[in-house]
Amino acid sequence: MNKSKAMTSHSSKASSPQSKTANSANPPRLAVAIMAAGKGTRLKSQHPKVLHEVGGKPLLEHVIRAAVRLVPASDVYAIIGHEAEQVRAATQHTGVNFVLQAEQRGTGHALMMAKEALAAYDDVIVLSGDAPMISSQTIGQLRDFHLRQRAAMTLLSADLENPTGYGRVLRKGAKSAEVVGIVEEKSASPAQKKIGEINSGFYVFDVKQLYSHIDELSTDNAHREYYLTDIAAVFKKVRQRVVAWKTATPNEVLGGNTRAELADIDEQMRLAKCRQLMDDGVTIFYPATCVIDADVEIAPDTVIEPYVQLLGKTKIGGNSRVRSYCVIRDSEIGDGVTVRPGSIMEDARIGSGAIIGPYSHLRPGSEIGEGAHVGNFVETKKIKLGKKSKANHLTYLGDAEIGEGVNIGAGTITCNYDGVHKHKTVIDDDVFIGSDSTLVAPVRVGKGAYIGAASCITDDVPEDALAIGRGRQVVKEGWARQKRSERAKP
Ligand code: UD1
Ligand code: CA
Repeated sequence: MNKSKAMTSHSSKASSPQSKTANSANPPRLAVAIMAAGKGTRLKSQHPKVLHEVGGKPLLEHVIRAAVRLVPASDVYAIIGHEAEQVRAATQHTGVNFVLQAEQRGTGHALMMAKEALAAYDDVIVLSGDAPMISSQTIGQLRDFHLRQRAAMTLLSADLENPTGYGRVLRKGAKSAEVVGIVEEKSASPAQKKIGEINSGFYVFDVKQLYSHIDELSTDNAHREYYLTDIAAVFKKVRQRVVAWKTATPNEVLGGNTRAELADIDEQMRLAKCRQLMDDGVTIFYPATCVIDADVEIAPDTVIEPYVQLLGKTKIGGNSRVRSYCVIRDSEIGDGVTVRPGSIMEDARIGSGAIIGPYSHLRPGSEIGEGAHVGNFVETKKIKLGKKSKANHLTYLGDAEIGEGVNIGAGTITCNYDGVHKHKTVIDDDVFIGSDSTLVAPVRVGKGAYIGAASCITDDVPEDALAIGRGRQVVKEGWARQKRSERAKP
């Protein structure tokens, strides 16, 4: 998926002519700092902004993923503050470091808090935890430009059709790479607001220069915060070089500051995922209606119908078809499987050639064998259904091991719960369970046995036997006729 692998190895940087320490063979020691401490006031949310999800993952996780394609996770520092423990818990599996910004006094202040953590590095790439579309290719290009330019600060800029809300880049001249300042929307003059080139909030800094001058930032602005953007003007004053590199893929810089912006980013990510799957040979009808998470894998010639959600780590084989209104999470589906409309699955495994639905509910631990059928209004949980077995209508199967070639009649129920404990039902190969049977676990039905319809089975049934557990039918001749004639009497 990502072609930036070549940039990740230190040796490639060492041999690069772009290496900025020309007198030494050592490549610059590079860190990534991700600003993720803000509250996200504009979302009007109880949850920290960077944990809001797009494309099925928190904003911050997307940014971390891009970062760790360029440097090892041990060189990535997430600056956290608002609900810091929640943010740390949600992202520490990535292996990155955390820096605490206990009080959120602006993006400049965030970097002040990282001074100690970054002391051992030559350059730092600074990313925004709320801008999840950024790719490692673009960050890599920004880094290379920075090193070539020998700048104190390099910012990533973009031309946006609607630049409202973003800081604007003030270039030294139209054709100059040099920047004299960044002006935030709130302080911009009407003329400056017309500038379409925006500051993406992604930068590379020379660490030594950054921390020699960061204390010169002030809070003399609309938000009374330390703006990291003001460091451009500070550098300008002390004749340190500030340059901008404009990306050709401006949508990568979009930030999720409002719910509407989050929806917009989510839509773009979903469509990009669908396009990638289609490139790989998957048919998707009305992709705009499908919600497919980033890690989902689908083999060629599978068809995804409109209004389908494929979530988490779901994997689907080739030549399968997922019909409309299915919600499938963390499940593995084989080749040539049909999932009919309205089916719900979580943590389920479906063998090749199986048919599921319509309206099946496969709960965690459901393993459906090759060529098996699970039909209308069937709920399963923690079961194995063997090859070619069928449970086609109105059934609950929980904590059960069911062999091959078994027929589970309509309305069958495994009574797996005694109010305190769960018990297991075992049904061996080629068993026929009559409709409306209840199997009171723990219980075993031996190979090839028959269960009469509407039986309540409380004891094990031996191989090849017939078990019937219900009241005998009573027939009272003429009873109904007599009732009617009694009612007709005056
Ligand atoms: C910032 C830039 C703006 C740029 C835009 C791009 C500043 C002053 N402005 O504005 O020029 O166009 O990004 O998206 O930097 N954060 C902290 N600690 C804080 C405050 C913020 O870690 O004290 C984090 C936030 O969690 C967020 C990131 O920094 O992930 C950016 O902050 P945000 O408030 O969203 O800045 P913008 O107003 O978008
Ligand atoms: Ca932002």
